[in-house]
Formats: sequence, C-alpha cells, structure tokens
Amino acid sequence: MASERKATLIIEGREPVEFPIMTPVHGNDCIDIRTLGAKTGLFTYDSGFLSTAACESTITFIDGDKGELLYRGYPIEQLAEKCEFLDVAYLLKHGELPNVEQKKTFVNIIKTHTMIHEQMARFYQGFRRDAHPMAVMVGVVGALSAFYHEAENFADQTQRNISFNRIVAKLPTIVAMAYKYSMGEPFMYPRNDLSYTANFMHMMFGTPCEKYEPNPVLVHALDTIFTLHADHEQNASTSTVRLAGSSGANPYACISAGIGCLWGPAHGGANEACLKMLEQIGDVSHVPEYIKRAKDKNDSFKLMGFGHRVYKNFDPRAKLMRKICADVLQELGLENDRLFKLALELERIALEDEYFVEKKLYPNVDFYSGIVQKAIGIPTSMFTCIFALARTVGWMAQWEEMISDPDLKIGRPRQLYVGASRRDVPPINQR
Ligand code: SDX
Repeated sequence: MASERKATLIIEGREPVEFPIMTPVHGNDCIDIRTLGAKTGLFTYDSGFLSTAACESTITFIDGDKGELLYRGYPIEQLAEKCEFLDVAYLLKHGELPNVEQKKTFVNIIKTHTMIHEQMARFYQGFRRDAHPMAVMVGVVGALSAFYHEAENFADQTQRNISFNRIVAKLPTIVAMAYKYSMGEPFMYPRNDLSYTANFMHMMFGTPCEKYEPNPVLVHALDTIFTLHADHEQNASTSTVRLAGSSGANPYACISAGIGCLWGPAHGGANEACLKMLEQIGDVSHVPEYIKRAKDKNDSFKLMGFGHRVYKNFDPRAKLMRKICADVLQELGLENDRLFKLALELERIALEDEYFVEKKLYPNVDFYSGIVQKAIGIPTSMFTCIFALARTVGWMAQWEEMISDPDLKIGRPRQLYVGASRRDVPPINQR
C-alpha cells in the first residue's frame, strides 16, 4: 500500500529523485521504483531477486526471522492441526476457510473431477518406464491445455474456478498414474467414496486384485504434508508460474512451467536429493566428514534440506514435518529407522556447528519429508511429484491473483549487458 513516506535517490551530478515507500500489512517496506528507468535512465541490479518484491500479494506471508508462515493470515501450525488439505486449497483460492456447506460443495466438486480424459492415459505410453516422473508430469499437465481450450477464457471467473477445481482434482490422478506406469502396474481409477488423500493413496498403492484400505494415520500424515507444501509466497516455481501467466498463457501451461522449475535440486527436488544424501552419508560416524565438506568452499557438496533464502530461523514446516515423521515411523514400527536416526543426528550436529549457526542454516521443509514419504511407501523419484501435487493449489491461487490484477503487465526484466561492444561482421577469411 502506498504511503506518504519517500525514498530519495541522490547521485552525484544529478538532481535528487524521490520514490514512494509502500507499507505492507506484515514484512518489509518496499521502495516503489517502477518509475526509476523513466526518471533516471537507471536500472536496479538484483540477480536472484535477493531484495526485490515482484508483486503485491494477499495469499501467503513468511517472516524468515521469526520462522513464521501464514496462509491468508492463518499460522501454518494451526492449519496443519485443525484443517484438511482441501480446506487449505479452498482458503488459498478464495481467501477464507470454507464453512460446512462450502466445504461439502467443494469436496463434491473435486470428487467429480478426479478422472482424466481416457486419451490422456495414452500420453504415458510414450514415455520410457524409467522416465523421471517429474518429466512425465511436465508433459501430461501441460497437455491438459490441449483438452480444455475453454481454460483460455480466464477473464471469466467461472472459467478460473473450473480450471482451479479441475487441476486440484486431477493432479493426484496424474501423479499416481506416473507412479503406476513406472512400476508397470495398471492405472487405478479414482474412488469417490474416499477422501482426497485416501483416494490418492488408493490410486498409488491399490491394485485391481484386492480391496485397498489406506491406513488412516498415513492418510492424515500425507494430507498434512500436502498442507505444508501448498504455498510459499514468491519462491522460484511460483515466480515461474506468475511470469508465464503474465503473457496470457493457458493456466495448465503455466503450472507445467512451475513443475519444471520445482524439479531443481535447489528447490523442490531437495527432498529427493536429501534422502540420497542421507543414503550416501550412511552412518552417524560419517556425519562430521560431510559437515566438513558442506563447509568447504572448494567442495560443491551442500547439506540438502538445509538453508533457505527467507528462513534465517527454523522453517516452521520442518518442525511440523519432524513430528509427522516420528508419528508415521511409530505407526509403522520403524522408530529405529536408520535414516531417521541419522537425520536427527545430522540436524543436532549441524545446529551446534558455528558455520551453520553463523550462516543461519536450519533444516527446511525438505529435510524430513523424504524420510516420511519413503516410510509411507512413496519412492524417492516421486517425492517432488508429491510436492508439485500440493503446490499446485498455491500456484493456481497465485496465478489467479496475478491474472486478476487490473495493473497486470507482462513480466519483462532488463539486464546489465557486459558482452561484446558493437562490431562489424568480418569476411570469413578474416575471422
Ligand atoms: C525449497 O523459496 C522457497 O520458499 C522454497 C521452498 C518452497 O516451499 O517453495 O521453501 C522449498 O526450495 C526449500 C529449499 C530446498 N533446497 C535445499 O535444501 C538445497 C540446499 N540449500 C541450498 O541450496 C540453499 O540454502 C538454498 C538454495 C535453499 C538457499 O540459497 P540462497 O538463499 O541463495 O543462499 P546461498 O546459497 O547464497 O547460501 C548462503 C550461504 C552460502 O555461503 P557463502 O557464499 O555466504 O559463503 O550459505 C551456504 C552457501 O554456500 N549454504 C550452504 C547451504 N545452503 C547455503 N552451505 C552448506 N549446505 C547448505 N545446504
């Protein structure tokens, strides 16, 4: 929100230039520099966007110093304890938690949109069985654009609601089909008698040969994991979705772009990378050697699942994930799980090490999520697909906020050009 306060830019030999300071409800004041180029011919330089607010948003707030995460003002700890994932999906989209009637209607809409077009199932046949499931998701989710042309009419709120409901409903089916295809098992159709997350587990682990009843403790754990991953303000993949959407691209194409970005090991791929790292460390006795490597500037090794651009205190999701992990392992009689014990010891040692303390590197959401997903029976290669399934509700809410902005402009950053000066093309025999 604009305020009366101003920031004054003073450059030697130039007249001072003033810019308004924007005041948020929570978080950092922002200097509105949208007129900087026109007024001064200058750009700001901020590669990696360390100090840049790319948009105004009402959806999610993170206080990195306090380790606070709010979805539409509600603390993540309360949402994880008191709500289901579909409550949170509704909240992120509509701005308020659903009442009894709204929840019933929303759940029924989602249940009746869980199947995908039968011809979409053929897309899977085009992939090798050992294709990474995130590659499958990029392709299949993007292909939804080919089946729902009306999604282009997103100026119409009804169409935006339909697109949101469709993709929230179909992502579990698409993810489960990617898993079944990789296993060489038949696809499982959705069951409308099950809850959202129980149905997902049915489609993942059920077979036509016998009735599959998901373990309610595991269903609750996975449903909470979905909530923890649902949104996270302007992270790399959400920014990708917003930038793609700013061109007017179909929402499914934008979500596909977000999936591609989330795949990276520095982002959503960290849970898969973290589990592989724990397997690589292997034993608590090896932890000091890997801590040493993580601190070595000449060694590219990083402790996966540690550090965060915003959280310079504990990631609140990591605390909740550690509890979920303990509950799931206890339910499955795996309290002495080797990797969980190793993770706890790695966390303890790292948090006592002055390098991690000085650089404020704490476990993030990805540190424990791999262990709990592996215990539930989800293979490592599917971890980021689970993240994408959950983050899709946040991406769609952020996409809608962007597309509904009356001041929407196509995102088009500039650059600091440090390449060759202007020069003429020489004849080939003079090159
Ligand atoms: C997610 O943005 C989001 O909100 C993302 C996310 C979401 O919900 O969308 O929260 C999900 O992506 C969580 C992060 C998952 N990634 C990892 O766990 C990968 C390991 N972490 C690092 O790659 C890193 O911490 C990042 C990418 C998460 C953050 O990188 P930044 O903010 O650019 O910080 P940086 O890389 O500049 O690190 C600051 C310093 C560096 O040392 P110096 O150059 O200052 O000497 O800390 C060091 C880094 O070398 N450092 C680490 C480290 N992370 C940072 N050293 C060892 N191990 C690590 N994990």
